[in-house]
Amino acid sequence: MSILIKNGRIVTASDDYHGDVYIEGEKIHSIGANLNIEADQIIDAAGMLVLPGGIDPHVHLDMPFMGTFSSDDYASGTLAALHGGTTMVIDFVLQTQGKSLRHALNQWQGRSNGNCYGDYSFHMAVTDFNEETAKEVKEMIEEEGITSFKTFMAYKGALMIDDGQMVGLMKEVKKQGGMVTVHATNGDMIDALIAKHRSEGKLSPLYHYLSQPEITEAEASGRFCDMAEYTDVPGYIVHMTCEGALNEVRHACRRNQKMFVETCIQYLILDASLYEKDFEGAKWVMSPPLREKKDQKALWAGLNQGLIQVVGTDHCPFKWEQKLMGKDDFSKIPNGHPAIENRMELLYSEGVNKGKISINKYVEVTSTNPAKIFGMYPQKGCIAIGSDADILVLDPNEQHTLSADSHHMNVDYSGYEGWKVSGKCKHVILRGKHAIENGKVHIQKGYGKFVKRNKVSKII
Ligand code: URP
Ligand code: ZN
Ligand code: ZN
Repeated sequence: MSILIKNGRIVTASDDYHGDVYIEGEKIHSIGANLNIEADQIIDAAGMLVLPGGIDPHVHLDMPFMGTFSSDDYASGTLAALHGGTTMVIDFVLQTQGKSLRHALNQWQGRSNGNCYGDYSFHMAVTDFNEETAKEVKEMIEEEGITSFKTFMAYKGALMIDDGQMVGLMKEVKKQGGMVTVHATNGDMIDALIAKHRSEGKLSPLYHYLSQPEITEAEASGRFCDMAEYTDVPGYIVHMTCEGALNEVRHACRRNQKMFVETCIQYLILDASLYEKDFEGAKWVMSPPLREKKDQKALWAGLNQGLIQVVGTDHCPFKWEQKLMGKDDFSKIPNGHPAIENRMELLYSEGVNKGKISINKYVEVTSTNPAKIFGMYPQKGCIAIGSDADILVLDPNEQHTLSADSHHMNVDYSGYEGWKVSGKCKHVILRGKHAIENGKVHIQKGYGKFVKRNKVSKII
């Protein structure tokens, strides 16, 4: 099977030029001006952007959480991702406290194997670090190609580890050539605020937001940077939302530390005023919560300063009936919101189209940097000869409106209902297959494959 993409504007993290891309099998075979090659299929990309397929390194599919499961499974989630220009996702395996990493991986493989449309990988979340877990770190990296280890500084009793475990894990991961990633918020401070608000009868979604003030994220981010510096492990802070946390990283960078930062599309474009909509605010109950306008400004600046390297989604959808589990108590609302399908178009529209980031920065933060940071570059994350043919053809001029009526995520509302977007994903190619053509799906469930990743120390 071969595909020739003709006359497009090819954009990578560093280049921007007009040309053709010829794909043979799963790989990019040639790139050039006016390529004169016969192909099984020709895509006319005149007037369109030809971009590396998006990589979303922060999604939760079919995940057991807060007494329920996130509502997109591996089929619906990776298919929705493809509709939105994301060809690969990295999901999270969660260790059950008291059980092994292998036990958790088996469970996650049981739900994902053979069910994905798009390519995927896993981060391994270590929720119980002990001598046995330590031995499994090497095994995960060398046998499974799982090179990043997620930690939680919150969600005590289920996911949180203490600082002693964190330092122990960091030392082991450093030794084996991996990376430690973190949900950096101070769990004890948050739990105390939740208890206080509940005891005062303050039970609406607004109090989810008021239980996680900026300081809880800034403090934990700074503490994580300090522990990463002490152990010399590469670190990655997921879903950063605020100026205070970013300033902690700014200080850490002065010590020449390897610390990477991800923000998510929602933190760049939505703000905490949504929590004033009574229970409708539950749609945006996520952790950390949406913040203020001044934080959005800091995050956009952080992208341009290179302090934030990645824009993900933290896609963790729950249907409305699941959100209703917390109708009388904000602390029981399952945390998370749907965005896997919307990230590429929203960031193009709000970021590139409105002049907040350049088109090269867009490619960098949605694809190239996730590939580099998580050990997949140049197989993924670029348009280059020999790379996987994962390509998004985006029409920068087509306007459309986001809605739950037309999205493909398995959730009955949209966090962006009625949002007008400039820029539409027209064609999506995944490892040489024309997966999506103007909304039509041409691949089957199971085409998506698990991607083993390289040791982190080799690529950063
Ligand atoms: O609210 C969120 N973010 N839900 C998913 C779990 C996490 O903390 O990333
Ligand atoms: Zn988190
Ligand atoms: Zn998450």
